[in-house]
Formats: sequence, structure tokens, C-alpha cells
Amino acid sequence: MATPSRDELKRQAAEAAVALIEPGMVVGLGFGSTAAFALQHLAALLQSGQLRDIVGVPCAAWTETEARRLGVPLATLDTCATVDLTIDGADEVDPQLDLIKGGGGALLREKMVAQATTRQVIVVDEAKLSPALGTNFALPVEVVTFSVEATARFLRNLGAEVTLRCNAAGAYFVTDQGNYILDCAFGPISDPAQLAATLQSRAGIVEHGLFLNMTKDLFVAGADGVRHVQRG
Ligand code: A5P
Repeated sequence: MATPSRDELKRQAAEAAVALIEPGMVVGLGFGSTAAFALQHLAALLQSGQLRDIVGVPCAAWTETEARRLGVPLATLDTCATVDLTIDGADEVDPQLDLIKGGGGALLREKMVAQATTRQVIVVDEAKLSPALGTNFALPVEVVTFSVEATARFLRNLGAEVTLRCNAAGAYFVTDQGNYILDCAFGPISDPAQLAATLQSRAGIVEHGLFLNMTKDLFVAGADGVRHVQRG
């Protein structure tokens, strides 16, 4: 049998997670290529009538546009205090189900939705698994545009190799909230909670891509199928 493509693995993980959605739920709609498969599948189930009474809370401007195009009813965190279940991707996942996110630049809204979510469900292909956060992926840090070099210096002093993210056209990447992203290659992060606290307390840093103690369920797809891992 042919080895499934990476996109096929992402689709399998995403569709397995969508099976957790029940009628009446408020569903957080993540961002990224894996979460996009979940959104497509959810939309197809709504369209066919196999699922009903769902409202989605999008984690990114792109997701909002795509959900509207697919006919998924939408709400916001202003109107829904609690999100029952969110399906989102990740850039790196450690054995505790802690994450690095923000590869797509939507970490701020993704974290706001995650913090309002009862059951945070992460969907990845097995290439995202890692023994320690920071091993394979530079930590995205969203920063205000004011004195971005000063913030980059602060991050370098913490031990990171820092790159100001650019888009495909070579211009500075600007987030949905009008901020920049500094990609911080720390290498394996020995104490993610300590680093998160340090980043959180620095003015100029809006948000960082460490998502700690948030994931309840992980669906990871590999050549042998989809594995469902639950925290605790
Ligand atoms: C978006 O900002 C990220 O947090 C995504 O969840 C992450 O980049 C995963 O994207 P893919 O599913 O495209 O790999």
C-alpha cells in the first residue's frame, strides 16, 4: 500500500477530531492546513444534514472568510462566553501535549479562543511530535511594531536566534491584529513554563506561541493510522 501523503495524514487526523462534535456545540475553528481539513469536513456534514445546530468561532481572519464561504454559521467570543470544543493544528507537540503554535501567525486569536474552550483538540501529522518544544520549530512571538529591534534584543538575551518574519513578497509579516512576529529559535526549551512567564511579563510582547496545559485531546496521524491521545 502506498505511503499516505502528508496532506492525507492531516486530513485523517482532522476528520477523526470532527467526530467529537455534537449537535448544539459552539466550535472553535482553528487555522492552518490541518485545521482547514476539519473545517471542510464540518461544513460537509452540516451541508448534508448529518450534523446540525453548530456555530463556529474562527481563530483567524482567513478562517472566518473560509467558514463563511462554506456556509458555516459563525459567532464570536463576545457573543459566546464558552466554546465547547476547538479543533486546531500545531507546529510542535511534546509528550505532555504542550505545543508551539503560531506558524501561521494567528497565535493571539488562537490562544484567546483556546482559553475560552472547554475541550481543546489538536490535530497533527506525526512529523509534529517532538521530545521537547523548540527542538524542531522556532517559537513565534507576536510583538508590537514600536521598537521591534529592542524587543528582538531582549529575546536574543534570553538565548534565542531571532528573525523578524517576512511574507512571501519580502515585506514584514503583519498579524490579524496589526503586529509583527519574531521567530525565536531557542533549541530545546528546558522549562517552557518559566519561559512563558518571562515572555508574558515583558511590555512589547503581545503573545507567544507556547500553549501549555491547554490540550485535552490530540489526534496524530501516521502511516499506521490515527492515534487519539488524551491528557491525563
Ligand atoms: C497557526 O498560527 C498555527 O498555530 C497553526 O496551527 C500551525 O501553524 C499548524 O499549521 P499546519 O496545520 O498548516 O501545519
